[in-house]
Amino acid sequence: MSFIHQTFSYFNYWLNEENEHSLHSPFIYELYKKVILDTNRKPLFPDIEKIREQFALSTNTIEVVDLGSGSNVSKNNQRKISDIATKGISKRKFSELYERLIRHFDYNIVVELGTSLGVNTLYLSKNKDSRVFTFEGDPSLAAIASAVFQGNEKTNTEVIEGNIDQTLPLFLNKYKKVDFALIDANHTYKATLAYFNLFLSHISDHTCLVFDDIHMNGEMEKAWNEIKSHYQVTVTIDLFQVGLVFFNPEIRKQDFILTF
Ligand SMILES: C[S@@+](CC[C@H](N)C(=O)[O-])C[C@H]1O[C@@H](n2cnc3c(N)ncnc32)[C@H](O)[C@@H]1O
Repeated sequence: MSFIHQTFSYFNYWLNEENEHSLHSPFIYELYKKVILDTNRKPLFPDIEKIREQFALSTNTIEVVDLGSGSNVSKNNQRKISDIATKGISKRKFSELYERLIRHFDYNIVVELGTSLGVNTLYLSKNKDSRVFTFEGDPSLAAIASAVFQGNEKTNTEVIEGNIDQTLPLFLNKYKKVDFALIDANHTYKATLAYFNLFLSHISDHTCLVFDDIHMNGEMEKAWNEIKSHYQVTVTIDLFQVGLVFFNPEIRKQDFILTF
């Protein structure tokens, strides 16, 4: 069902995607040319890619607590670290995109919903000015990621362990504004909209929210469509795997589907 949905969605994306030549808004043109399209063939951070490689070669298995929908890796509770590293975390291209966005806008408060092994978090925390809060409900993954951050002397990164349904509202009571958030944990309509609504009271004009797996299935498609049409959202950029959401009121409300 989900495979058919994704194939159909990808066809639709392919039909509608635009490149820089069709972009007239200066904000979008600059963002697309300078930040989004600035992809590298060679890893920008080989030190982080080495960690990904080590996880991909691991023969260890962990027992995981299933807190959310979206596991394309396994349906039982035993998970191979190598499977998580190769199929369950952001690809280098996307992690590098997040790093560029955070650096370009010099984002301070950065949130990641869904830490997993912490490889992507290492990219989010590259900007020295950022404070990164990464949320993970699975104790084994939270422990692995914490060890990665300690080993890499990440003083600007904190793991918030527990179910996001409970930990995010508590966090947002303390941190009034969020500059950048990657929403990549519980890929259901209900949770996606609930997290989006929670963030809405904590955005500024320059906040960027990134939603992963927006075309994963009908539920996520519905959530993405509702997010796009929300009156506070001005610009959205659909890169197929992820959707970027901006709130700057000075920009005319527009939805873009861009080649990435
Ligand atoms: C797709 S992985 C995150 C990948 C990571 N953000 C990256 O970019 O590589 C999703 C993670 O979210 C966690 N998760 C799912 N639902 C959750 C919830 N309700 N509370 C806390 N963690 C949750 C899972 O345990 C899993 O490790």
